[in-house]
Amino acid sequence: MAVKDAVRERGQFSSRFGFITAATGSAVGLGNIWGFPTQTASHGGGAFVLVYLVLAFLLAYPALMAELIIGRHTRSNMVSALPQLTTSPMLKIVGRATGLFGVVTASLILSFYAIVASWLMVQVPAALADIGGQGPAENWLNQPSLLRDSLFCGLFSLLTAGIVARGVTAGIERWSTRLMPALVLLILGLVGTVLTLPGAMEGLRLYLIPNFNLLTGPSLLTSAMGQAFFSLSLGVGTMLVYGSYVSKADNLPLTGAYVALIDTGIAFLAGLLIIPAMFVAQQRGIEIYNSDNTLIAGPDLILQTLPSLFNSLGFAGAFIGLIFFLLLTIAALTSSISMLEVPVTFVLEKFKISRYHATWLVASIIFSLSLLILNNFDQLFTGVIRLTTTYSQPLLGVMLCVFAGWVLHRNKLLSEISKGFAGAKTSLFWKIWPSYIRFICPLLIILMFVQNTRS
Ligand code: PFF
Repeated sequence: MAVKDAVRERGQFSSRFGFITAATGSAVGLGNIWGFPTQTASHGGGAFVLVYLVLAFLLAYPALMAELIIGRHTRSNMVSALPQLTTSPMLKIVGRATGLFGVVTASLILSFYAIVASWLMVQVPAALADIGGQGPAENWLNQPSLLRDSLFCGLFSLLTAGIVARGVTAGIERWSTRLMPALVLLILGLVGTVLTLPGAMEGLRLYLIPNFNLLTGPSLLTSAMGQAFFSLSLGVGTMLVYGSYVSKADNLPLTGAYVALIDTGIAFLAGLLIIPAMFVAQQRGIEIYNSDNTLIAGPDLILQTLPSLFNSLGFAGAFIGLIFFLLLTIAALTSSISMLEVPVTFVLEKFKISRYHATWLVASIIFSLSLLILNNFDQLFTGVIRLTTTYSQPLLGVMLCVFAGWVLHRNKLLSEISKGFAGAKTSLFWKIWPSYIRFICPLLIILMFVQNTRS
């Protein structure tokens, strides 16, 4: 009864499918759709996909498991989880500080992510205005302005908070299980459409055929590692908090492997859409390379190159654009709810207030941060992105590996993994993972950190 009450109070995913869709919803985001494809195309196509797959499973999957195991073991928010793993007063302080650092980082990531998401979301009504022949409305929506960006960022934040305020099962799980299948169907539909257009096959060749000559240099490895880390939402406690809602009957190593596989699979699928689409655009006279011969990536790709392609395709292009931006908005939304959940669980558990109040309080603070960034865009935008993704995420990742590998006692680790996984003790996972998370993961992350901060 006591266990049931605790579960009811904190919330728990109702099924393994519910957890997998929520966790992949967090993982599959803008990082997959505009990060992975262009990196792949610029770094040797199929050869990079192979390197990425190896790194995703060598680095990101073990780190994901560290977060999931700590989360399920402690059934706690990011700040109180780590101190629970130790009896040492000193380590408790370090654990709490790390947790707070994670909560702040997740909030800061959300503050810029919501801005980027609003640029994509506004394209949905813009495409509708285009289809409906509403020229003036379309022009206003297409023209960046502080008012437009603030309004749509507010709208996106309202959507995110509206889902999180409903709780784990009725909000996060329900919406993830609705949105994620929709996202996969939309990508598949778009891949099918784009591959029939002239020029697509050239993109497909570049994307899939390995070119090992482009597969050189340490920066390639570190950018693949960074991509895998960001893509699996690691280092800020999202997966720890989602792990805290996983049933004790679930096989964690297997469930975590599904999440890593699906995330990578969807990133790969996004490449089948984006790279061929770029070459269709090139065929229509649109520039797809930067002056240094690298493929245009990031916001320029999504907000200029691809919209030019959609425009050049006439009426059908408006529909393709509508679906494409809807897809991106969904991907951003399911990632944002996981980011908001990190500070919300902390505030509601620390201050013993309702989820409803905690959500609206935290969402208002983060939205104020987004407004601050929008109002001081040149000074703050790239700085916040760099601070959080280049510095905070890897440092926090190392700390989480250290707490899982060195602080949490081996017997407790095994007993946690054994719940829902009867053969854990003799499994390959248990033979490799504990020493892996102690030595290899922290080392690899530090390597990536040093390389990224030097460039
Ligand atoms: N994984 C998301 C993406 O690929 O876009 C980004 C992300 C989500 C990063 C949640 C961090 C996070 F906590």
